[in-house]
Amino acid sequence: MKRMGRFAGADVLVTGAGSGIGRQIALDFAAEGARVLVTDADGASAARVAAEIAAEGGTAVSDRLDVTDQEQAGAVLAAHGCPRIVVNNAGVASDTPFPRLPRAEWDRDIEVVLTGTFLVCQTFLPAMAANGGGAVVNVGSINASGFFGNDAYSAAKAGLESLTRSLAVRYGRAGVRVNLVAPATIATPIWQERIDRDPTLLERLTKWYPLGRVGTPEDVAAAVMFLAGPEAGWITGTVLRLDGGLMAGDAALVDEILSRDYLM
Ligand SMILES: NC(=O)c1ccc[n+]([C@@H]2O[C@H](COP(=O)([O-])OP(=O)(O)OC[C@H]3O[C@@H](n4cnc5c(N)ncnc54)[C@H](O)[C@@H]3O)[C@@H](O)[C@H]2O)c1
Repeated sequence: MKRMGRFAGADVLVTGAGSGIGRQIALDFAAEGARVLVTDADGASAARVAAEIAAEGGTAVSDRLDVTDQEQAGAVLAAHGCPRIVVNNAGVASDTPFPRLPRAEWDRDIEVVLTGTFLVCQTFLPAMAANGGGAVVNVGSINASGFFGNDAYSAAKAGLESLTRSLAVRYGRAGVRVNLVAPATIATPIWQERIDRDPTLLERLTKWYPLGRVGTPEDVAAAVMFLAGPEAGWITGTVLRLDGGLMAGDAALVDEILSRDYLM
């Protein structure tokens, strides 16, 4: 693992970093020299990722942080100090169809995705501002811009885009940039239940993607690091879609309309 890099010596907090996209973000920041605070509601998984980073020669500590618990967030700030970069990645998504969606599942998606980010930002941003600035990257979703089957999750991710803009304006003069990445399908454990129902699912989804594949956690980590890093010094309040072209047009529909090879 490289010890120098774009983030040499920077303290980076990642939420929901015990699995999937968050884990990759933690690994990749560490590979570019950051000191990573790996957090997750599941403290054991956070500890495993921190150990993985240490085994690669990187610098990481872990702590349990349920983003819906502001007291825990305060305790993490008190224990580890103020980070330069915060990545709000923790998320859950209910799959229950709308007519049967229990209020508790609606509340849970909103609570973890939207309220959790609010609570983490309310805890850390004033300290980052007082410390001279930094960067926040929120992990949103293309579900904010269209319906893909998760009503509550979509609403929460749309709210997260709005929160990103308000915090960007509010904290801009204090030197804190706030941006959001909006991925489409990324192969992670969040898909496992659906894959158990249909093992060919991710393969079948590729037909909807102009770039011919679903995304990887590495695709997301690269964009998060761009927005958190010095190359993005004049970018704030923005939504960066990472979707293999999904939202640019409907590749499967174009196949139907043109009924011929439209590349020729
Ligand atoms: N995988 C995708 O297709 C995809 C697409 C777009 C956006 N996203 C977003 O990316 C983020 C990461 O998703 P993933 O695919 O890696 O999922 P994942 O299930 O692999 O990881 C999510 C992590 O968040 C943690 N978590 C859940 N609730 C939490 C809470 N209250 N506090 C702290 N941690 C909590 C879980 O323990 C888990 O480690 C989520 O915000 C998700 O909405 C994922």
